[in-house]
Amino acid sequence: MPVRVYGSPAEALSAIREDLGDCTRCKLHGLGRRQIVFGVGNPDADLMFVGEAPGADEDIQGEPFVGRAGQLLTKIIEAIGLRREDVYIANVIKCRPPSNRNPEPDEVEQCERFLFRQIDTIGPQVIVALGKFAAQSLLRTADPITRLRGREYKYRDAILMPTYHPAYLLRTPSAKREVWEDMKRVRAILKERA
Ligand code: URA
Repeated sequence: MPVRVYGSPAEALSAIREDLGDCTRCKLHGLGRRQIVFGVGNPDADLMFVGEAPGADEDIQGEPFVGRAGQLLTKIIEAIGLRREDVYIANVIKCRPPSNRNPEPDEVEQCERFLFRQIDTIGPQVIVALGKFAAQSLLRTADPITRLRGREYKYRDAILMPTYHPAYLLRTPSAKREVWEDMKRVRAILKERA
């Protein structure tokens, strides 16, 4: 097969989206998803956020983190002096699981390769894994998020920081303090690696 060469990360991301197509690789395509939610943001971002899977709002709008949790994520991004358009936001799973159930291992296995290609194309300095599912999937561990957060991990060419999911923060506002500590550290690492 000829090797395709892409001029820019934006073009390479479009090619990944094209490869994903109208995906039927796992059963989620037949379980009520309206559309694939690929990812959004700056293809050259230094900072990338990875969540679990689209929810109802994201399934309707075709963009990750646009519901209540997403609005809180936007505020978290702004709290470190960035705009949503400056970063890249994606999920491990690109289709909404029915009734927002957890993604299943076969779904992750089929889908995560597209996230890995997104990460390798964008080449962020820092990846923030939002919540237990994203952190455990990326780090290939079953450790609880309480143990994973507050630490920095080498991940591909980036530093990976697990933190609490914004949906958890909506239920547990007292945990915002820890996320703020994590985000201050993210801001410092971005500065160090600029
Ligand atoms: N929760 C996620 O993990 N991802 C989204 O896109 C929305 C909610």
